[in-house]
Amino acid sequence: MRHFTILVALLSSVTYVAAHGYVSSVIADGQNQTGWLPFTDPYESPVPTRVIRKIPGNGPVYDVTNTDIACNQGGNVGVDDTFEINAGSDMTFYWTAWPDSHKGPVTTFMASCNGDCSTFTASDGQWFKIDQGGYTNGQWASMKLLADGNQWTSTIPAGLASGQYLVRYEIVALHNVGQPQYFPGCVQVTVNNGGADQPAASELTSFPGMYNGYVWPNIYNDDLTKFVVAGPNVVSFADGSSSDRTTPSSSSVSSSVSSSSPGYSSTASPPSYTGTPANTNDTSTCMNKRNASKKRSLSARRFHGRSSNH
Ligand SMILES: *[C@@H]1O[C@H](CO)[C@@H](O)[C@H](O)[C@H]1NC(C)=O
Ligand SMILES: *[C@@H]1O[C@H](CO)[C@@H](O)[C@H](O)[C@H]1NC(C)=O
Ligand SMILES: *[C@@H]1O[C@H](CO)[C@@H](O)[C@H](O)[C@H]1NC(C)=O
Repeated sequence: MRHFTILVALLSSVTYVAAHGYVSSVIADGQNQTGWLPFTDPYESPVPTRVIRKIPGNGPVYDVTNTDIACNQGGNVGVDDTFEINAGSDMTFYWTAWPDSHKGPVTTFMASCNGDCSTFTASDGQWFKIDQGGYTNGQWASMKLLADGNQWTSTIPAGLASGQYLVRYEIVALHNVGQPQYFPGCVQVTVNNGGADQPAASELTSFPGMYNGYVWPNIYNDDLTKFVVAGPNVVSFADGSSSDRTTPSSSSVSSSVSSSSPGYSSTASPPSYTGTPANTNDTSTCMNKRNASKKRSLSARRFHGRSSNH
């Protein structure tokens, strides 16, 4: 009976197919913290307390000017817990099944909560980048994440000042040219045993803000070797990490990409990827909301199966 109830709850809550993904657990310092599970946690009694801010489902954020771009829809407000970790720890984000069509960069940012994260508004954050992966050796960072077992590891800088922070992980999926899909989420952390390092002003950005005016490539046609990950550089005091820290080969690129720079304009050549017509040939692999209702049984099966990409 209980199972039946849960299933009904699941079916009515799945508004788009589980063809996207979210972080279902995060591990650091040997502690495994379950993330906010949007398809089950709301129906638990009591509703579980998580260190990851709530998300409504596994779908993307589209509007980079909306506060949802900070920590996903509903993530602008805090949750009660924080993840207690030491500075210098590796933090691994475990994603649910991620479709291999959803290619794009992976980034990790942090922002001080200026005190208590549970009352901190994410869109007020001054974000600094601790890790990034773009397009390297013919591989998008999202594909590396997939190849590594749906996980991505970033290092909390060892010298970072102790205190409460948001850690913002994100994949951007570029399969629909002209309509990038953003999949951000935020962990509330308390960093202990840190140092004196603080980001410089030039290393800070904002969400919304950073992606305003940013021009994404057409991943099917453009020269991806020119791809520069959006936003400021990884902070100078960042430690090594197991993930890709691509820095562009040419000298001037990206050292001070401002928040409004198009992704390709920092080289000598003009932005080459503006005005690309939207490519809508991916509706079969990334269903929209209108179509989702018709395929609920399919999506529920996929969700339960968690098998893999399609
Ligand atoms: C972390 O815990 C979740 C259950 O909450 C489990 O499904 C997952 O496999 C664990 N991850 C690791 C790497 O042990
Ligand atoms: C989408 O269109 C591009 C050409 O613009 C093509 O190369 C690619 O294979 C198509 N993707 C799908 C999933 O059909
Ligand atoms: C569902 O998607 C198909 C393309 O796969 C489209 O032709 C159709 O109009 C969509 N239906 C609705 C209700 O949006």
